[in-house]
Amino acid sequence: MTYLATLLAADRGQKAHPIHLVDKKNFEDWAKTRPAEDRALLKAHRFDGKSGFAFVILPRKAEEFEVVSAVADARDLSPWCLAKLGESLPEGTYKLAEGEAGPAAIGWLLAQHRFDAYRSRKSEEPDRGPRVLVTGEPARIEGVIREAEAVTLVRDLVNTPAGDLGPAELEQAVREQAKRIGAEVRVTSGKDLEEGYPLIAAVGRAASKEHAPRLIELEWGNPKNPRVAVVGKGVCFDSGGLDIKPASGMRLMKKDMGGAAHALALATLIAGDRLPVRLHLLIPAVENAISGNALRPGDIVKSRQGLHVEIDNTDAEGRLILADALTKAGEADPELIVDFATLTGAARIALGPDLPALFSNDDGIADELMTAGKDSADPVWRMPIWDAYDEMLKSDIADLANAAGSPMAGAVVAAMFLKRFVPKDTPWAHFDTYAWRDKGKPGRPKGGEALGLRAVFAVLSDRYARA
Ligand code: BES
Ligand code: ZN
Ligand code: ZN
Repeated sequence: MTYLATLLAADRGQKAHPIHLVDKKNFEDWAKTRPAEDRALLKAHRFDGKSGFAFVILPRKAEEFEVVSAVADARDLSPWCLAKLGESLPEGTYKLAEGEAGPAAIGWLLAQHRFDAYRSRKSEEPDRGPRVLVTGEPARIEGVIREAEAVTLVRDLVNTPAGDLGPAELEQAVREQAKRIGAEVRVTSGKDLEEGYPLIAAVGRAASKEHAPRLIELEWGNPKNPRVAVVGKGVCFDSGGLDIKPASGMRLMKKDMGGAAHALALATLIAGDRLPVRLHLLIPAVENAISGNALRPGDIVKSRQGLHVEIDNTDAEGRLILADALTKAGEADPELIVDFATLTGAARIALGPDLPALFSNDDGIADELMTAGKDSADPVWRMPIWDAYDEMLKSDIADLANAAGSPMAGAVVAAMFLKRFVPKDTPWAHFDTYAWRDKGKPGRPKGGEALGLRAVFAVLSDRYARA
């Protein structure tokens, strides 16, 4: 059993510290039902049920105590309203006194995950044991644990430095998950990559031999089920290539495989819940490095699909490797293609760090994704595929260029480029995501972050009700 799986347990009447979640509206009524000592203690703490106040411990006898914590709305819990408790309560077993944790359970688990692979002293806190939450919804436990594990998979992969997570290690990470879920993996590299996926080979060719480029594919599920393709940008480090990034822009580029991490995590969710689909995961994995044989501005590469692409900017490498992967995905005629990519700085300028930009050629799925995002507090925001901007990708001598001369609508232009490689009538959702959190919050530490992952899984679960 993984560590996270120990943190949520079915209610079998075990002893547990009660947690009272109150809000500003019901606090006064709730307080009336409490003993006078509790009321006095809460008053001394100036606790008035306003959200933002972490919690107060109400002592009982000996080892016993109860907890009261304020939330925004006690009848509509957010995924994060138990996170502060999950990370700061003493080790032990807890249970909500009124109602069930529902959507808040995942935050309890995530609050207790640490990325400490590179800390010699494992935790700043001395020997803190687990905080276990007991729930009366045993049927939901496995699903909550799987979602929490998917989120921590994204965070851990993104946080791992590029020196320890190159294309080879990313392949290893896919193989590990494939083994867990019972899926097949196929990896294309070397000559086969150069012939079959020229853009992936070209972007990755300047990296050292140990970090050689590859296309990692995983297939899972009954081949008779509808096919769903999930594609993730796996740039394990983005130096910019010959169009080298400035130091400030390069500092976080270990996270440029964040799309791949999302795609892999989504695969574990789909398989974990046994959704009746035939899943095709595609991860083009490269390092965008610099050396004598690096791809140059002005070079022209003939893509898998046949279009000649002129390299306007070697730093627009994500769309190049995704192009060949999307072409391959489309060849199997899927019912839906979803891709995740840390594709443009422009998407961050437009929407900031929290909101992945969603681009889709299908209004139905776009609406479902926006709604699911709001409902699961994992928001995404739709931006337009604007055909008139196609001309920004015109090349003087080739079929198209990989970047425009102007930075205007940079995220839209990147989506326009990808669109050229997606079959015309195939529903497609593209996420241009940050995969990172610059400032920590309870349950959401600074560093790698899954954004839009739970929203996409909610939509897929809904569309393909469990077999
Ligand atoms: N990986 C970057 C995009 C990125 C940068 C995402 C910072 C998140 C934070 C991508 O490969 C890139 O460099 N894109 C360029 C494209 C441009 C050259 C057309 C960009 O956005 O500046
Ligand atoms: Zn780049
Ligand atoms: Zn990149």
